[in-house]
Amino acid sequence: MNHSKDHPTPASELTVGQIAERSGVAVSALHFYERQGLISSRRTTGNQRRYRRDTLRRVAFIRVAQRVGMSLADIKAALDSLPEGRPPGKADWQRLSNSWRSELDHRIAQMEKLRDELTGCIGCGCLSLDTCTLFNPDDTLSTEGTGPRRLLVDDTLRS
Ligand code: FES
Repeated sequence: MNHSKDHPTPASELTVGQIAERSGVAVSALHFYERQGLISSRRTTGNQRRYRRDTLRRVAFIRVAQRVGMSLADIKAALDSLPEGRPPGKADWQRLSNSWRSELDHRIAQMEKLRDELTGCIGCGCLSLDTCTLFNPDDTLSTEGTGPRRLLVDDTLRS
């Protein structure tokens, strides 16, 4: 391949292939991140994408955030909160990952509740449209224990 007509790539810049190779993230995923505004590049005169070296750190940040289960919108908001599109520094990382920890705790609690409700349903089998805990997650009846709720709803129990 002949790049002689193109400006040489500065040492601080990487091609999409180099980013992919070093990060282990597929080129298609990197292009997707770019379309979503999570990373950015400049174009050479030959219309080739060139990425700043610190894009590697942004990609690592995105992958870790995705593993934690953060949405692309949340990841973008986190990256957009950094000045001048710079990659997350150590202090940024501590601040953002700490907030994700809270989010993760919340989701774990939700999953544990879901597991307990499913366990109750496994032992029940009513699949009632009115009272099944999983079918009516916000139903007040569903907060009063496991099993077929309607049988437990009794004025003497609700005093
Ligand atoms: S099957 Fe869900 S509460 Fe009975």
